[in-house]
Amino acid sequence: MAKPKDKIEDSLYTKVVNLCVRRGMIFPSCDIYAGTGGFFDYGPAGVEIKRRVEASWWNYFVRQREDMAGMEGCIVNPPGVWKASGHVESFNDPLVECSKCKKRFRADHLVEGALKISVDGLPLSKVQELMKQHKIVCPDDKGELSEIKSFNLMFKTHIGAVADETSEAYLRPETAQLIFTDFKTVQMASRKQLPFGIAQVGKSFRNEIAPRNFVFRCREFSQMEIEYFIHPKKLDDCPLFDGVKNVLIGMCTQAMQAKGENDKAEVISIGDAYAKKVIGTRWHAYWLGAVIEWLASVGLRKENLRLRQHTKDELSHYSSETWDVEYKYSWGWKELMGIANRGNFDLSQHSKFSGKDMSLFDEETKEKVIPFVIEPSFGLDRLIFTLLLDAYSERVEKEETRIVLQLDASVAPADVAVFPLMKKDGLAEKADSVAKELRKSFVVIYDEAGSIGKRYARVDEIGVKWAVTIDYDTLEDGTVTIRDRDTSQQERIKLDEIPVRIRKSTRSFG
Ligand code: GLY
Repeated sequence: MAKPKDKIEDSLYTKVVNLCVRRGMIFPSCDIYAGTGGFFDYGPAGVEIKRRVEASWWNYFVRQREDMAGMEGCIVNPPGVWKASGHVESFNDPLVECSKCKKRFRADHLVEGALKISVDGLPLSKVQELMKQHKIVCPDDKGELSEIKSFNLMFKTHIGAVADETSEAYLRPETAQLIFTDFKTVQMASRKQLPFGIAQVGKSFRNEIAPRNFVFRCREFSQMEIEYFIHPKKLDDCPLFDGVKNVLIGMCTQAMQAKGENDKAEVISIGDAYAKKVIGTRWHAYWLGAVIEWLASVGLRKENLRLRQHTKDELSHYSSETWDVEYKYSWGWKELMGIANRGNFDLSQHSKFSGKDMSLFDEETKEKVIPFVIEPSFGLDRLIFTLLLDAYSERVEKEETRIVLQLDASVAPADVAVFPLMKKDGLAEKADSVAKELRKSFVVIYDEAGSIGKRYARVDEIGVKWAVTIDYDTLEDGTVTIRDRDTSQQERIKLDEIPVRIRKSTRSFG
């Protein structure tokens, strides 16, 4: 339930947003009708990147693990689910309305913007007091603002033909709850024993008062979430811990934030952070390390990542300890994803509200327990945009500035581009047959339009690592030029060497 704040005004951000929209990678949804702020669609290159990031995540955290089961839950859910989870009661933002223009704003954003402070965790009465004390008015027309009202962020709908109280339902604001409601069924079907996790990827919806900053805060978005279930007395009994204990990462702890060191990142190993009790439990420490390792595997530079511990005031209603993975954006450290210790809050609540037993028999201790949960929760859209920012570079060629997106090949929108040098003399036909053959194993872009330089530039700026050109020598001796996006160097290789070259750089998961 993190709430990113301040409007981003930054040149790299603007450049990447412009690239996304101009190249049709990510762009405002239903743009021809305007007015649907906070909804974004993915075009051809964007959706390929999205699928690949998701596939990499699924492969890494689900398919490659014995202790993880996958599932997919519904988006529209009965109110009971969200009453039990606390979202009906607590998933609110503070809303104020201008008495003149009737525009609505988030009170916390207005206070933070005007006073340059963070009001995270402050009670609404205190935010209201600050508004009054500093005479905060409508930023657009200086109109007087209403008292703060709580605005619930869930989208409501109705199921069936009658739209009354009995048919109310909600679009899920997080995928997590479906994992909790389905916990017993998935456990039974997978026959996993504690400790084990359940993973899910899917859409979630939050009716943000003021969506902004492109895909950083939108109303419809994709999440990749894991709920990892552990015997309540075994949070420090983690057999996987040794695998990540040497992961080095910058950290900004509660203690550092209490000293005002909010912008620091002190590099420490996961093992040492746990030994020094900076991280509360061994399983939480393990998941922090595992998540950092995966983020690095899709190409994010570790020096741009840090772990920031939530302050006590900031913790969500269900969490006893939360760490955000933050990325060092050019406008400051901001949340990329979060890893919370949800305790047994959710399963206990569902047990109470549904009347169903959510406990599990632990074979090892012969006890019936309601497991504790560590939750690594990723926002997919924000991650994709961060990958694009991290990969963005410019190269001056023939006095022209060209964009080169140096994405890790495993999450690039295609593995290879195939170009005929010319359309004539059988080159297009040969290039087409090369592309067809490569398509059996790889994602391929075929392009025969415009100068070869323009075609290279087109694939460079969407991040395709390799470009193969079919020329007259190809027809003679079966060789092609293969060009590397990052160096723009070309090399002559045999046709049958192309797959080997691509595979060297691509950890393709589909
Ligand atoms: N499940 C945690 C979140 O959506 O923020």
